[in-house]
Amino acid sequence: MKKNITAWLIDGPELKNVPKEYKAIWAKAVEEYKLKGRAGEIVLVLDGISPSILVGIGGDNNECDKMRAMKEAAQLLYETASKHKFERIEIGGAPKTACGLLEEALFDAEYKFKVGNKENNKTKIEFKIINSNASIKKRAKEISSVKSFARTLVDMPPSHKSPNKFAAVIRSEIKKRKLDRKIKMTIWDKNKLEKEKCNGILAVGKGSANPPMILRLDYVPRGAKGKIVLVGKGLIFDSGGLNLKTYEGMKTMKCDMAGAATVIGAGILAAYFGIKNSVTVFAGLAENMPGNAAFKPGDVIETRAGKTVEVLNTDAEGRLVLADLLNLAEAEKPNAIIDAATLTGACVVALGEEYAGLFSKDAKLSESIIRAAEQSGEAIWRMPMGRDFKEKLKGDISDLKNIGNRYGGASTAAEFLDEFIDRTPWAHLDIAGPAFREGKGKGRPNGATGFGIGMLLRFIEERQ
Ligand code: BES
Ligand code: ZN
Ligand code: ZN
Repeated sequence: MKKNITAWLIDGPELKNVPKEYKAIWAKAVEEYKLKGRAGEIVLVLDGISPSILVGIGGDNNECDKMRAMKEAAQLLYETASKHKFERIEIGGAPKTACGLLEEALFDAEYKFKVGNKENNKTKIEFKIINSNASIKKRAKEISSVKSFARTLVDMPPSHKSPNKFAAVIRSEIKKRKLDRKIKMTIWDKNKLEKEKCNGILAVGKGSANPPMILRLDYVPRGAKGKIVLVGKGLIFDSGGLNLKTYEGMKTMKCDMAGAATVIGAGILAAYFGIKNSVTVFAGLAENMPGNAAFKPGDVIETRAGKTVEVLNTDAEGRLVLADLLNLAEAEKPNAIIDAATLTGACVVALGEEYAGLFSKDAKLSESIIRAAEQSGEAIWRMPMGRDFKEKLKGDISDLKNIGNRYGGASTAAEFLDEFIDRTPWAHLDIAGPAFREGKGKGRPNGATGFGIGMLLRFIEERQ
C-alpha cells in the first residue's frame, strides 16, 4: 500500500463545496492563524484519522492570478507531501477548468536539475485529482516534460551548451521524442551567417572561442493555412562583452538563452500536438564574451536588414541578435511573429521578477497573448511603445544606436526591435524577470522556470 495523503484546495474564506471534515480542520487553523484561503496558505494535519493537507488557492480576483495560485498550491502540496514521505496525494476542490494546469504544475514540481552523479533527492509522488481524467493528465504530462527539457537547457552550465553542443542536444531531443519526421532542423553556421549578412549576431559572437549560429526548426503540417514564427534570444552566456557585467549582474547569465529554450519548447509541443498551422522557430545562439576579437563600443554594424547600428554598449547585445532574426522571420511572410528574450534588466526593475513585459503595437495580437497567459497561469503586463522611445535610438553617425538613456529601457529595447519589423503583426516578450529565479520562494522553486512555453502553446492552439 502506498502511503497516502488527501488534500483539498480552499478558494477563499467562504468554504463553498468544502467537505465538512476539512471545514472543521480549516476553522481551527483560521482561529489560530487568521487564514483567508489565499495562495500560499497551507494546513497540514498528521495526527487526525487520516493525514490531510489544505492549501489556499484564493487569489486577487483575476483569471491569471487564480491560475497562478493553482500552480503555487501544486508546488506546496508536492513539497509538503514529499517532506513527510507520502507517496500518493488525492486532491479535491480543483475547479474543472484548472485541472489541466494543476496536473501540469504537479509534474513540474518533480523537476530537479543536477550535474553528474549528484544524488537526486526528489521523490516521485503519484497524484490523483478528483475532477480530472486520463486525457487531461496525459496532455499535462507532455507539456511538463517539454518544459522540463527547456528548463534543463537554461539550468545547464554555460560550458556544457556552446552553440554547437546546444544544437546537438536539440537534435537528439527531437529524435528521442520521435518528432524528427515532423520537425526539420536547419543550422546556419558562421560561414553561412557571413554569406547571409547576419552581422548583428556575428558581431555579438566575435569575442568568444565558440562561434555563433542560428538554429531553425520548421513544423509544416499537411494542409497548413496559417504560419506563426517564433524567435528566441539564445545568449549561451552574457558576460556583457567589453562592457563587462559586475559579479552580481553576471552570475545568472547562463539564463540568457531562456528565450531560445522557450520558443524551441513551444515548437516541439506544436509538433507533438499536431497543431494545424505551420510553426517556424528561429533561435540565435551566441556567447557575448570580451575575447580579443570582441566587438567594441564605437563599432558600427550593418545588420541583415541593411540598417546600421552604432554599438555604444556591448551589453545591449540581445537586440543586435534579434535584429537579424526578426528580419529573417519577416521574410517568411507569417501571420504573426512573437519573440521571447531575456532582453533588459530595466523590464525587471519595472515589473518585478514574476511579470514578463508584453510589447506590441497590435492590440488584437496583444489581447490573444494575454488570454493565453491567463490560461497558462503566467504573469504578463502590456508595456508602452511609441515614438517617445524611438527618439532615443536615433543614431549620430549611423541609422541607430543600440542604447537609449537610463529611463524606460525595456520600451527603448522594444522600439529598437520594432525597427526590424515592417508589416507583420508582432509581439515581443521580455522575460528577463520570470525566466530564472535566483532564490527559492514560497511555492516557487529556484532556477529555470520554463516561463512562456505554456502561453505560447495555448496561443498557437487558439489560432488553429
Ligand atoms: N541579458 C541582459 C538582460 C538581463 C538582465 C537578463 C537581468 C536577465 C536578468 C541584457 O543583455 C543586458 O545586459 N541588457 C542591458 C541593456 C543596457 C546595457 C541598455 C541591461 O539591461 O542592463
Ligand atoms: Zn547584455
Ligand atoms: Zn543579454
